[in-house]
Amino acid sequence: MKEPLGVIGAGWVGLVTAACFADLGHDVVVRDVVPERVAELEAGRVPIFEPGLAELLAANGERIRYTLDMADVFERARLAFVCVDTPPTHSGDADLSRVSRVVEELPDLAERMILIMKSTVPVGTGALVRERLDRMGLAHVGYVSNPEFLAEGSGLHDFRNPDRVVVGAFAQRDADAVAALYRFVEAPILQTDVASAEMVKMASNAFLATRVSFINEIANVCEVTGADVEAVARGVGLDHRLGPHFLRAGIGYGGSCFPKDTSALKQLAANSGYHFQLLTAVIEVNELQKRRVVWKLVKHLGSLRGTTIALLGLAFKPNTDDMREASSLVLSARLLADGASIAGYDPVAEEEARKLISGIEFAASAQEALAGADAAVLVTEWPEFAELDFADVAAAMRGQLVVDGRNYLDPAAVRAAGLLYEGIGRPGPNGKDR
Ligand SMILES: NC(=O)c1ccc[n+]([C@@H]2O[C@H](COP(=O)([O-])OP(=O)(O)OC[C@H]3O[C@@H](n4cnc5c(N)ncnc54)[C@H](O)[C@@H]3O)[C@@H](O)[C@H]2O)c1
Repeated sequence: MKEPLGVIGAGWVGLVTAACFADLGHDVVVRDVVPERVAELEAGRVPIFEPGLAELLAANGERIRYTLDMADVFERARLAFVCVDTPPTHSGDADLSRVSRVVEELPDLAERMILIMKSTVPVGTGALVRERLDRMGLAHVGYVSNPEFLAEGSGLHDFRNPDRVVVGAFAQRDADAVAALYRFVEAPILQTDVASAEMVKMASNAFLATRVSFINEIANVCEVTGADVEAVARGVGLDHRLGPHFLRAGIGYGGSCFPKDTSALKQLAANSGYHFQLLTAVIEVNELQKRRVVWKLVKHLGSLRGTTIALLGLAFKPNTDDMREASSLVLSARLLADGASIAGYDPVAEEEARKLISGIEFAASAQEALAGADAAVLVTEWPEFAELDFADVAAAMRGQLVVDGRNYLDPAAVRAAGLLYEGIGRPGPNGKDR
């Protein structure tokens, strides 16, 4: 009989955690505060798009229960994962109000329990929660930092095949109890103090974001010097000291993690009296990168007033409907401000996009978005865009310009259809160096 588990927060991390542990044979109680979300999950509908998640939750339905009541979580479980959101505040710090609420809402816990923090929190959060638990008379409740490294779109695979599991605890027996849950993974289980575990997560995301901004700056220099960033990234990535990951030039990172986590680390450093210069530049490069597409459009079209631009993809990356900090948000706002009309299409994120973007037309297909467009911008590298028949695209569009914001399309195929191809950090629209 496997240990029953609690999961607090039914978002990407919470539902993936619940599904994967239930699949391993654990009974799991999942608690959320949004009644509609709990009702949907109870009715067998999954409120987020994550490949394979709905199927895995359904297959393990008899072991998973959803609830609004925190007391239900601890009815049988002695170990509970905290997976609530930690969005940015206006100041750029992490908003820990949901984490605080979880602590406030803990029922009277007579027996020993362990709260396992999977949410990404600033260094020092565990120490604050520990103090608070002690003040609440819950000194017997353990606290473990167990940051999550999954990426949306490959969440199930990442959860089951992590590169490492990090367990930071105040007490060895708590660390051992949590590490034991991960017996199924082949990766190293790194046991640390709580602050270091918290920092592993922040530093990892900051470093990945740094790689993205780095290759984007290299791409920008490629554009003015005539090199092709795709060849450069391949060459750089073959160095075993560097590796190929997160060296894809494009229109910047988005999503629910990199922007907020880089900002939270920058602010955490500043609050502690340190100016994190490198990370400040990483964030600024990313913001500018999102806007470079506008500059590319202006270069070809002149004024954007009265033009129609097709945006292919709206989600922050493929295989998710997550629109948080998506490049399409900045791009659509900038293009509308410059007087363009926008036809946007995303295979799965339209519903989420409608909540955040107003003033654009939502198309039901790529072809519909492209019809009559003066230019097309590939924003999200959904596989279906690589399958486009560019002769059809050329016939449907009014103009000829295709800006490939992710260097995802085959430039030769686009050009063969008589279209102008502009990538990021790649040779110019005629296939020659500019
Ligand atoms: N999404 C990712 O790819 C990812 C990856 C690694 C780490 N993380 C981190 O994990 C955390 C969760 O991220 P997410 O993307 O799953 O968030 P999310 O916004 O998708 O889900 C959070 C859920 O928590 C619920 N919630 C809020 N307060 C609650 C409370 N008091 N009790 C119960 N439920 C509550 C919300 O209603 C929501 O359903 C964040 O700190 C994030 O930075 C996310």
